[in-house]
Amino acid sequence: MTRPARITVHLNNIIHNTHVARKMHGGKILAVVKANAYGHGDRQVAAALAPHVEGFAVACLEEAIILREEGITQPIVLLEGPFSEQEVFEYNRYQLTPVIHHIDQWQWWSAVNSQKPIWLKLDTGMHRLGFNEFETIQLCSYKPNHPVPIVEVLMTHFANADSLNLGMVELPMQRFERVMQHFKVSSSVANSAAIMLHPQLRGHWARPGLMLYGVDPLGRVAEQVGLKPAMSFTSEVIALRWIEKGEAVGYGSLFTADKPTRVATIACGYADGYPRTAMHNAPVWINGEIVPLIGRVSMDMITVDVTHHHHVQVGSTVELWGERVSVADVARHGGTLAYELLCHTHRPSRYYD
Ligand SMILES: Cc1ncc(COP(=O)(O)O)c(C=O)c1O
Repeated sequence: MTRPARITVHLNNIIHNTHVARKMHGGKILAVVKANAYGHGDRQVAAALAPHVEGFAVACLEEAIILREEGITQPIVLLEGPFSEQEVFEYNRYQLTPVIHHIDQWQWWSAVNSQKPIWLKLDTGMHRLGFNEFETIQLCSYKPNHPVPIVEVLMTHFANADSLNLGMVELPMQRFERVMQHFKVSSSVANSAAIMLHPQLRGHWARPGLMLYGVDPLGRVAEQVGLKPAMSFTSEVIALRWIEKGEAVGYGSLFTADKPTRVATIACGYADGYPRTAMHNAPVWINGEIVPLIGRVSMDMITVDVTHHHHVQVGSTVELWGERVSVADVARHGGTLAYELLCHTHRPSRYYD
């Protein structure tokens, strides 16, 4: 038996969550599987989802090629588009669809692949990628002698879809709708938060990421919003000890016991993807109960207080996150987001069920 830290990915739960996304949104599903499917394994996730979605989204060519090698035949949309004119030839070779978000890309595409469809990105307020309203209308009403890209989908990505304040999404959506009036193309505006929180933000294509992996964008308990967690991060207790009142635990002696304390050491640390910034009291599940993290997270180990949990032994099973502990809750204790934690689970051994 190797080190017990392990990731188990529940592919059936990802399929379930995809059906939830489709039911909520009602349109086509472009499953976002960039960053190794948010740490879940892009090959495995794409193969499992292929019969259930109309397309996939990734960030770059390397990620798209992995999917084609896996036998994925649906459209693959590259959310940042080509990074050079040279890459456009590879898009051609692998039958890939770019998101075009700046004028250089528009020209590279026109020069090489003009008859192949693109997704065009409108900047509605995120101010990260995309053409503004005026540029978009100009681009598409321009009728030069040489061919221009065929816009198949007009898309945008909202900065505040996870806000319950409607005003934060209304203005961007109005901008989008104003531009849509000039086009007879499909639209795509909704990520997980928009799908789950804002029924008025729809479009033809949904682009869910986080919710496919069973995480609610607002950090609510997955089951309460109809989702099933797709990743279980588990390990085992590898040492136990009693310490006296006044003794400290871990690097920097950040935790000092205010009573005799039974400390369990678990084989899992920040090198496995557990957030080093997690604070005391982050929840850890051991043998059916939640116990608090104490002391600083080390590279390969964490420590928890099991004073009142006498049944905990060396070898007891631990869940760091999954069905009993929500990854969003751990992220909150670490001052980060579930997105980041899911993507950082490279080291533990990995299983699919
Ligand atoms: C353009 C775009 N669309 C959709 C998504 C999916 O977002 P989420 O994981 O919040 O559903 C992302 C993720 O970053 C994105 O960049």
